[in-house]
Parts: sequence; structure tokens; C-alpha cells
Amino acid sequence: MTKVAIIGSGPCGLSILRAFQHAEEKGNEIPEIVCFEKQEDWGGLWNYSWRTGSDEFGDTVPNSMYRYLWSNGPKECLEFADYSFDEHFKQPIPSFPPREVLYDYILGRAKKANVKKYIKFNTVVSNAVFTRNKFEITSVNKKENKTTKEDFDYLVVATGHFSVPYIPYYEGMNSFPGRILHGHDFRDAEEFRDKDIVVLGSSYSAEDIALQCYKYGAKSVTIGYRNNPMGFKWPKGMKEVHYLDRLDGKKAIFKDGHEQNTDAIILCSGYLHHFPYLEDALKLKTGNRLYPPQLYKGVVWQDNHKMMYLGMQDQFHTFNMFDCQAWFARDVIMGKIKMPSDQDIEKDINKWVLEEEALEDPIQMIDFQTEYTKDLHLASDYPEIDFELIRKHFKDWEHHKEEDIMTYRNNSFSSAVTGTVAPIHHTPWAEAMDDSMKTFMKSK
Ligand SMILES: Cc1cc2nc3c(=O)[nH]c(=O)nc-3n(C[C@H](O)[C@H](O)[C@H](O)COP(=O)(O)OP(=O)(O)OC[C@H]3O[C@@H](n4cnc5c(N)ncnc54)[C@H](O)[C@@H]3O)c2cc1C
Ligand SMILES: NC(=O)c1ccc[n+]([C@@H]2O[C@H](COP(=O)([O-])OP(=O)(O)OC[C@H]3O[C@@H](n4cnc5c(N)ncnc54)[C@H](OP(=O)(O)O)[C@@H]3O)[C@@H](O)[C@H]2O)c1
Repeated sequence: MTKVAIIGSGPCGLSILRAFQHAEEKGNEIPEIVCFEKQEDWGGLWNYSWRTGSDEFGDTVPNSMYRYLWSNGPKECLEFADYSFDEHFKQPIPSFPPREVLYDYILGRAKKANVKKYIKFNTVVSNAVFTRNKFEITSVNKKENKTTKEDFDYLVVATGHFSVPYIPYYEGMNSFPGRILHGHDFRDAEEFRDKDIVVLGSSYSAEDIALQCYKYGAKSVTIGYRNNPMGFKWPKGMKEVHYLDRLDGKKAIFKDGHEQNTDAIILCSGYLHHFPYLEDALKLKTGNRLYPPQLYKGVVWQDNHKMMYLGMQDQFHTFNMFDCQAWFARDVIMGKIKMPSDQDIEKDINKWVLEEEALEDPIQMIDFQTEYTKDLHLASDYPEIDFELIRKHFKDWEHHKEEDIMTYRNNSFSSAVTGTVAPIHHTPWAEAMDDSMKTFMKSK
């Protein structure tokens, strides 16, 4: 029987487990599946952990999410086509839920599909090589400290790419008297109450961590961008300046001459696509971009069609795009989708890569990733979902952010799966200090 190894049980790993179960439900015989998960529970980044650095077994902690993290895009843009928010929560809920609520939703579908039985928890893949036409996977059960080698016909990499921080160096860091950390290790904005902080970066982590710190009482927040400022209308107490030049004692000195005394520096400088367990010939080498090269349809490894990567793109679309990828990967594995010739694969990849390289602004990027997702959606039996509405929602969301970065999360969107219009949350985001599911679900 065909054997498939899936590495990771975050949203992407769970998407492909559900895709196989969906095929089985329809009467198809599915391959033998083993999903390796290095954490003791599923849900990937959404499975919050207080830990940073390494765990009790000495393994690296992949978690990058923090307390008080709320969805930064409307939930209607990531809804599963086969498992709506209405089905899960049995009542309409606001468009921007906190992490715990989305975690509950992700797990709801996985539990309904009964896919936990496929997952080996606390089991880290330490090596994967392609030899004798098989993937030889070495894994370590961390609890038992037991190493196992097993052969598989297909390999699906779903280990995410927001777990290994990119940490730059600036002059003066070694003698800086405060705290320096990367967003990956940021857990609780309360730590920075009454402090002056500097946040470096100009993407989602910089935006959100800066706002969190402001919301939970930081004295001042200075954001240093490298190339382009985010340019939002920041509230009083927050500002955006150009790139850090160096540190001098407690003083952060920026390229535009601006100086700011600071207690802490939070590096929101992005993440590395890092696959230490993969042999070089299988390893995707890319930055965080919308169309990493060498992946046919953004999924199948160009040099070995028995290997798939899920979720390796920079992401506007998330869960339902992961699903479209997972359903596609499943059908390649089950032989329903045939690979075209090497030339056609090359041509297809180049087309997307060149298009991506010409994109100039977020609106064009949203269009690009929507087209990509729609293209994949057409290839499988992933259920009906209105990606045109999702495209519109993303554009409205961008405009809401430009209008007011403090209030964009208070808006309501409609479901591309059920049509349900989200109620307005009982507390505006800027005043909602409690991010628990219990409080979120209460009507006022
Ligand atoms: C701070 C932050 C906030 C975010 N907020 C949002 C948001 O609001 N909305 C949104 O849609 N997206 C958000 N994202 C994007 C997020 O990447 C996706 O939502 C999603 O988690 C990606 O799923 P994944 O399965 O690809 O990766 P992950 O969630 O990273 O899961 C990967 C899994 O692989 C496991 N793993 C890794 N290496 C190994 C190994 N060698 N062996 C075995 N198992 C392994 C990990 O333990 C983990 O469980 C956020 C990301 C970050 C970093
Ligand atoms: N739910 C939420 O609210 C939330 C919160 C945080 C993160 N997220 C998610 O997390 C994911 C990762 O986002 P991210 O912002 O961490 O990574 P990212 O989108 O890859 O952005 C990396 C940032 O690092 C900057 N950078 C790189 N090298 C630098 C250097 N040497 N000095 C200063 N800046 C440097 C880049 O600047 P340049 O642009 O100049 O290259 C860019 O702004 C995204 O999917 C996002 O949606 C969500």
C-alpha cells in the first residue's frame, strides 16, 4: 500500500489529513498515512505556548504566537469551505476573533474528521532523504528518546515557516542595557507597560506587536522601518522612523538622525524557511514571498513529484488556501492529478514567479494570491466557496487599515461560505483587554 508521511500537524498538516478523510468519506481507498508532530498537541502556531527557546527535551520551540493575539484579517477570508464558522460555533461571531477562538475552530474540523489517530505526537523528524525511490524518514520520539527509521512513498512538508526567527545584528547590541528579543519570543505585552520600546520591521509582526505594546500601556513605541514605512496614522505615543543605525547605551540612533532612549528592542525582522531535517536536494530555499520558486502550483517539488510542500507562501489567504493546496496534493498522491511534462511545469512556475515579481502594491498582491488560490480550487473537489467575495473583503480590509489602524478590527464582513453577516463585537478591539474565548463569545 502507498505510504504517505506528513510532517507537522498545524493548519496545513490538518488540511491534508482532512483532505484524505474527505476522499475516504466519498468511498475512495486512501493511502496509509503517518503524521509526525514534534509538539505534544496539534494546531501548530495556534497552539499557544508560554515556552521560548527550547522545550523540556532540548528541542526548539516552534511557537511564535503571543497572548492577546487577535486575528489580523477577517475570519471570513480564511473560513473552511467544508466547515463553516456557523457550523462550529452555532451562532454568528464577530469578524476578528482572538487566537483561542480560531484555535477552537481549527480543531473543531479536525475532531469532526477524526484525524488525530494519524498523528504521532512528541515526535520530531530529524532527517529525511530520498533513496531507493523512497523517502527514508528518521524521527525521534522525544518522550521515550527513541529513534525510528521508516520508508514512505510520498512526503508532505507542513512544518510552517514562521518559527525560526531571522535575527539581524546592529552595532551596540552587545552593550545595550535593556532587553533585546525577536517577535518569535514575544509572549506578553504587559511586560512592556510604562517602558519605552523600539520595534524594528514594517510588516505584520511589527505592526501588531507595536500596537499590542501601546494597547497594554507602553510609555512610547518607536517603529524603525528598513525599506518602506507602514505609513498608518499611529496614535499619540507611537511613531515610525527610518531604520536603526546603531545603539549607544540605552539610546537607539536611527538613519534619519532620530534618537530615542529605549528599555527594550523587539526585532520583528521576519523568519527563515528552515528545514534542517531535509537533505539538500529536497530543501526549499526561499525568502518570504507569494510564489516561492521550484514548486509546481505552489505545492509539488519540481525536482521530485513525490514531495509536496504546503503553506510555504507569504500569506494573505491562509486556511482555505492551505485546503486548496492540500486537496491538490492529495489528488497528486492518489493519481487523480497527473503531472505535466517538465517543460510545462517549468513554464507554469515561471509564469507565476514573473507575475509575482512585477507586483507593486498590496492590492495587486491580494489579486495575485486570489488568482493562484482560484486556480488550485478548480483542480480538485474542494467544496464551493466564493473567492471573489474574499478578494473584495481583503481589499476592504486594506482600506479599513489605512483609514484607522486602531479600529479596523471592529468591522464586520460576510461569509463566503454561508452568507452570514458577522455581528459587531461587544467591545472595540482597542478596549478589549481580555482575549479569552469565554469573554469573546458573550453578547454584551
Ligand atoms: C505571530 C503570528 C501570527 C499569525 N496570525 C495569523 C492570523 O491572525 N491569521 C492567519 O490566518 N494566519 C496567521 N499567521 C500565519 C500562520 O502561519 C498560519 O495561520 C498557520 O499557522 C500556518 O500553518 P502551518 O501548518 O503551515 O504552520 P505551523 O502553524 O507553523 O505548524 C507547523 C507544525 O509543524 C510542526 N513541526 C515543525 N518541525 C517539525 C519536525 N521537524 N517534526 C515534526 N513536526 C514539526 C510544528 O510543531 C507545528 O505544529 C500568524 C503567524 C504568526 C507567526
Ligand atoms: N494575527 C496577527 O495579528 C499577527 C501578528 C503578527 C504576525 N502575524 C503573521 O505572521 C507572519 C509573519 O509576519 P512578520 O511580520 O513576522 O514577517 P514578514 O511579513 O516576513 O516581514 C518581515 C519584516 O522584517 C523586516 N526586516 C528584515 N530584515 C530586517 C532588518 N535587518 N532590520 C529591520 N527589519 C528587517 C522586513 O523589512 P523589509 O520590508 O524592509 O524587507 C519586513 O518588514 C505573517 O503571516 C503575519 O500575518 C499575524
